[in-house]
Amino acid sequence: MTQQTTESASRPPRTVESTDSIIVQGLSKSFGPVQALADVDLTVQRGEVFGLLGPNGAGKTTLTEILEGHVKPTSGTVRVLDMDPIRANRTVRNRLGIVPQKGSFELYLTVREHVALFAGYYRQAFPVDDVIELVGLSSKSGARVGRLSGGQQRRLDLALALVGDPDIVFLDEPTTGLDIEARDRAWETVQAIRAMGKTVFLTTHNMTEAQRLCDRVAVLHSGRVAAIGAPSSLLPDERGATISFRGDEAEFKRLPADLAERARFKAGRISMDVDDARGPLHALTTWAVDSDVALADLEVRRPDLEELYLSILAHRDSEGRTS
Ligand SMILES: Nc1ncnc2c1ncn2[C@@H]1O[C@H](COP(=O)(O)OP(=O)(O)O)[C@@H](O)[C@H]1O
Ligand SMILES: [Mg+2]
Repeated sequence: MTQQTTESASRPPRTVESTDSIIVQGLSKSFGPVQALADVDLTVQRGEVFGLLGPNGAGKTTLTEILEGHVKPTSGTVRVLDMDPIRANRTVRNRLGIVPQKGSFELYLTVREHVALFAGYYRQAFPVDDVIELVGLSSKSGARVGRLSGGQQRRLDLALALVGDPDIVFLDEPTTGLDIEARDRAWETVQAIRAMGKTVFLTTHNMTEAQRLCDRVAVLHSGRVAAIGAPSSLLPDERGATISFRGDEAEFKRLPADLAERARFKAGRISMDVDDARGPLHALTTWAVDSDVALADLEVRRPDLEELYLSILAHRDSEGRTS
């Protein structure tokens, strides 16, 4: 990493020229004997959605709280908007929108009153009703916060994070515990926040979410970065794919030899991993037409991040933890 990290400390905060929102170098954090983060390096560019992925206990919340200036690193360098989040705490915090893993609300206020209360904490806040609309809570504007569903409370969380017109929005597991509909709505909101030009730093243990939302992801495991990059760049070769269809054992045994050698039969599906799907697909469909095989539910799928993620975790577990 070659970005500027220290030389601009004396610059006034509003004239940040760097294209990086967040720079982390050699960051470690220990809680007594527990090493939550070990030698983490990463950079988040302005305007990107960056995902920090990892299983429970990987260190995601710890890293997020360090970036927010709530937790002090044990060692390493952290720059947020070209400032030290601990030393320039108030200045940095004023420009961050934070959705913690567990929010707490004033349950007796209405949605509108709650967002307005938070708007008052910031020098330049968004119009309250616009923010409420952005997160899809307009119809609940006059409802008491205590009456909201879990999904609606997560949306209120988002509204509270956005109302100060932040440069960076931190979302710690924004969809954990949500049903599919509420999750989809949260995803749309994240995309809307990105479209506003804001940087988003989100944590998740859900690969699909990362793949859907993030420009780049870092896979965190036992406090270390196990992989980092654009979701597609973390995957093997562009044309690599798994071809599969619903079939039975008799069909599996009748496959032509060149397909049979890489095919497997499991749970009523015949599948094969291929480097380039074009040739095998041609062979497969020719065979299927000639032999009157239905190729029911035929699917050509690139390995997804979920599989990659599981293999990274399995690989690192088999190496043994270093802390
Ligand atoms: N305040 C704390 N005191 C002691 N241990 C902590 C504290 N915060 C986090 N940890 C430990 O650090 C590790 C990482 O936790 P956390 O950052 O919450 O992970 P994640 O958010 O990925 O689930 C865990 O082993 C956790 O128990
Ligand atoms: Mg967490």
